[in-house]
Amino acid sequence: MDFTLKHTATGSKARAGTLNTDHGRIETPIFMPVGTAGSVKGIHKKDLKEDIGAQIILGNTYHLYLRPGMDIIERAGGLHKFNGWDGPILTDSGGYQVFSLGAMRKLSEEGAKFQSHIDGSRHLFTPESVIDIQRIIGADIMMAFDECTPGDADFDYAKKSLQLTQRWLERCVNQMQKTKPLYGHSQSLFPIVQGAVYPELREQAARHVTTIPADGYAIGGLSVGESEADMYAMIEVVNPILPIDKPRYLMGVGTPVNILEAIDRGVDMFDCVMPTRNGRNGMLFTRNGVINIRNKKWADDFSPVDPDGTSFVDQNYTKAFLRHLIVANEMLGAQIASHHNLAFYLWLVKEARRQILADNFKSWKEEMVVKLAQRL
Ligand code: GUN
Repeated sequence: MDFTLKHTATGSKARAGTLNTDHGRIETPIFMPVGTAGSVKGIHKKDLKEDIGAQIILGNTYHLYLRPGMDIIERAGGLHKFNGWDGPILTDSGGYQVFSLGAMRKLSEEGAKFQSHIDGSRHLFTPESVIDIQRIIGADIMMAFDECTPGDADFDYAKKSLQLTQRWLERCVNQMQKTKPLYGHSQSLFPIVQGAVYPELREQAARHVTTIPADGYAIGGLSVGESEADMYAMIEVVNPILPIDKPRYLMGVGTPVNILEAIDRGVDMFDCVMPTRNGRNGMLFTRNGVINIRNKKWADDFSPVDPDGTSFVDQNYTKAFLRHLIVANEMLGAQIASHHNLAFYLWLVKEARRQILADNFKSWKEEMVVKLAQRL
């Protein structure tokens, strides 16, 4: 995998680059639709690639390991063969999903013991086992096993948690060296910077990951209950320490405004369930602000879902019809809303890239963040 930095915007840290993987090229900044269980919920791969413009999708170690299980994925020949997506895939390591289980998990030096949210069965993830699992999945980009430190952790907890993540990273790197890709394409490991909202921990964490020669680096433990100001401040601490010539991935973030603010601070890659999860619930993101399509005011609005939208659902369905579908809990409603929102997120990062290359990012971003925050 190799990353080429094409341009850094004037008056901003925003970057445009290209990331080459064995499954194709990714133009950054990029948003990665989330396909937790191997599919982006409600979206056909043809639409994902051709209409929405996705260049890489995300899968989850935790979910795929529990269901359908590694035996099936391995017999299929890896996730690309199993789900038919032939573009790049990134898998999260399970660090975040296990953290979300709360009382159903227990961390130790060895790893994380947890109970399945499906049937209560007991499992252990270790840094070694999550590398083995991601080898079987065949992800182009694998994430290191980490503890996603809660946003309200006190300094002592955050420090101990970070040190555990750092020891786990060393074990992930060793396991990478001991194992090989199974399907003939190369796989990269991204370390994750933790440290909660404490600048000195984030700084130390960023310095530690750079001792590992990786193809990219991630920033985790953000958008987990801390303020937006703290999130932006942590990105500002970490990014100048990360290597300039490697992609930086901000995990699990966020709203369109969060994404533009992070791009402005030098982040290249994003994922978030928001466009699909909130879409299923009737929340639509547009370049003029947010629409709650459940609102009565859309009941007789026969204008297109999004006149400025780039996807076919934007022009081919009306707001009134989409509102009806969502209110009636029709599955097509969830599909249209998810499709629209993903196409919007992909448009947003593509336009950001265009503005970076045209050296107009900063002023475009300032205008956009005002518009995006509006409620329609
Ligand atoms: N997704 C969102 N945040 C995180 C994080 O801190 N760690 C991992 N592994 N995944 C995430």
